Amino acid sequence: MNSGCCSSDVDSGAAEIERLFRPRGVAVIGASTNPDKIGHRIVENIVSAGYRGGIYPVNPRGGEILGHPVVPSVASIDGEVDMAVISIPASAVFDAVVACGKKGIPHLVVVTSGFSEVGNNEEERRIVEYTRAHGMRVLGPNIFGVYSAASSLDATFGPGGILPGHVAIITQSGALGIAMIGKTASESLGLSALISVGNKSDVDEADLLEYLAEDEATRVILLYMEGVKNGDRLVETLKRVTRRKHVVVIKSGRSKRGAMAAASHTGSLAGADEVFDYVMRQCGVLRAESVQEAFNWVRFLSDAPLPSGAEVVIVTNGGGIGVLATDACEKYGVDLYDDQTVLKGAFSGVMPDFGSSKNPVDLTGQATAADYEKALDAALNEDGMDAALALYCETAVFDTGRFAELLRDVYARYRERKPIVFSLFGGERIVETIETLRREGIPVFGDVYEAVSVLGALYRSWRRLREADEATTEAEVDVETIGAVLDRARADGRGFLLAQEAREVAEVLGLPVPRSRVARSLDEAVRVAGEIGYPVVMKVVSRDIVHKSDAGGVALDLDDDAEVIDAYQAIMRSCRGYKPDAVIEGVEVAEMVRSGVETIVGARQDPSFGPTVMFGLGGIYVEVMKDVSFRAAPIGPAEANEMVADIRSYPLLLGVRGESRKDIDRIVDVLVVLGHLVDRCRDITDIEINPLVVYDYGEGVRAVDVRILFRNPKGGDVA
Ligand code: ACO
Repeated sequence: MNSGCCSSDVDSGAAEIERLFRPRGVAVIGASTNPDKIGHRIVENIVSAGYRGGIYPVNPRGGEILGHPVVPSVASIDGEVDMAVISIPASAVFDAVVACGKKGIPHLVVVTSGFSEVGNNEEERRIVEYTRAHGMRVLGPNIFGVYSAASSLDATFGPGGILPGHVAIITQSGALGIAMIGKTASESLGLSALISVGNKSDVDEADLLEYLAEDEATRVILLYMEGVKNGDRLVETLKRVTRRKHVVVIKSGRSKRGAMAAASHTGSLAGADEVFDYVMRQCGVLRAESVQEAFNWVRFLSDAPLPSGAEVVIVTNGGGIGVLATDACEKYGVDLYDDQTVLKGAFSGVMPDFGSSKNPVDLTGQATAADYEKALDAALNEDGMDAALALYCETAVFDTGRFAELLRDVYARYRERKPIVFSLFGGERIVETIETLRREGIPVFGDVYEAVSVLGALYRSWRRLREADEATTEAEVDVETIGAVLDRARADGRGFLLAQEAREVAEVLGLPVPRSRVARSLDEAVRVAGEIGYPVVMKVVSRDIVHKSDAGGVALDLDDDAEVIDAYQAIMRSCRGYKPDAVIEGVEVAEMVRSGVETIVGARQDPSFGPTVMFGLGGIYVEVMKDVSFRAAPIGPAEANEMVADIRSYPLLLGVRGESRKDIDRIVDVLVVLGHLVDRCRDITDIEINPLVVYDYGEGVRAVDVRILFRNPKGGDVA
């Protein structure tokens, strides 16, 4: 990856960020004796959460807050200070930053609003320039603060009462983050850290992820994002972190309107949602649809043991709800245990004759709490049954109170060994039971889909944690030769390559372009056509004619010399008629590409993630059905293969209705090369091969039309 894209030029490793989470002393600049002020609230939270380091309220008015003397300035603090929380008006922040620099305080937590989120970019840049020059780091501005369980530090102006635990939350939204504090407390969900990143002027998600990946207390990381900055560094970091921890993301801006709101909210550009979705999947991150879904997942992931295998057993007292759960398992990619002999052996003694030991195991409506207990014991003690999902529909013969005790008991006995989830459905007593058990941290849901969704999240993350890293494959990219082609076009005032130049780049990259040459006269066209071999196609070569077909500058399927002569004359005639002052350099005579499956392969600099690649089938598949997949580049062959398999029309490439399998391996080669190209040559903003014609397995692909756009600082034209 291009290291020139990182947000900071000071070392941003975990060791350096660590002091943000374990400061030896904290100054609060703008601490006020007025309990209504944010600066007061922050001191109050620091004190009441039990922080054991030095606490230094700073305010020229002096006084005392909760037993801590207020010092008049940062310079007058007597003690080690690793963090300064700044809560004074925006116009005074820079001077306070300089005072912190003089005192040698490495971490600034800037709560104050009124910077880039409202267009005050200059002041924010001034602060970051100063802090970078002095080896300091800035969290914020425009944040509610930071919580760290490692040092019992609640340096936020939230409602307090954060429980220590295993979930770390990084949030770009302040209000939502503060609301999450209340929500986690009411659901007894413990946090290892909570970080508000706001404008991300310096410290961003990637810095924090590096630290949290190493933090022993953190089992799950929840990210709330509105926009992506420094996307390629984020991708690189996430790919590593998801090998060690569960990572869940919620990103707003899914809808077009939502994206506009998000962009104006934090001053960062929300990227196209589809690209975000694919890239998160590529990185092994679980993307939740809603805050509630994210909470369900992180809560379960922070507590459940990792399974030792993929097969789940469903135990139910209702056939219908069992079928619903089976559907949900298919939707969320949860596999069901299927060895009928073992199932029969394990469950036949614990159900009536008219029950079913097939999975879902149906204990029938007459099942008692004791029957459930026996069935769950049987499932959870069987080696190949890796996780259990217990479903319960309220019935008249059942004592719900006893059932709650049973769930507590089963959960306590097996929670360390195997993942277990419960779903209860019924009236008031059931709703109360669910609430009570959830407060105790037991994974109980009122809806079967919610219950299966948490298992699905666990299994997706488990697979990621087990996956071996793909060895980095370096595709050859002759950057110098390609750069020289771009320079020539730049000198010509363009921001795009002519067909012949794009072809030159394609050949440098080893892409399989059709054989072709430029002929500058009729005689030469006939000779070249003979050398290439019939049938051929012919296209006008003129930098003044961009849309060749519209100008009548293209002739297809020419079978012999006579057809070449006729076509040449017709092309010249109609192009002169179309644009009389066009300079026509000649015609390109090329091998006529036989038909195959038309695909489209592209690579570009995405505004959020930088280099990305795209793949889809051509024609209506891409235009109407938008059936395309994306990845952040560069990618290796395994990722490229997954990307091809991601499109809905993938079966067409595998071969349907007697058609044979297409040469997918060669598509993969092209994707890998294009990904490396846009990663290495950041000036190339877009490259598209449309169509890339794909033949049967072993017969390769042909890059028929290659278009390349690039940056021209002198403002070159775009094709
Ligand atoms: N050093 C130390 N103390 C100072 C300095 C200084 N250089 N300058 C001022 N102070 C004192 C003030 O005298 C005052 O103390 P006092 O009450 O004893 O008089 C205190 O610092 C605070 O200054 P005020 O001018 O009273 O500012 P106020 O507290 O009203 O607002 C704040 C400051 C909170 C930073 C405000 O400017 C702001 O940005 N608010 C928005 C914060 C926010 O929402 N952040 C995003 C969170 S996420 C979300 O969306 C919820």
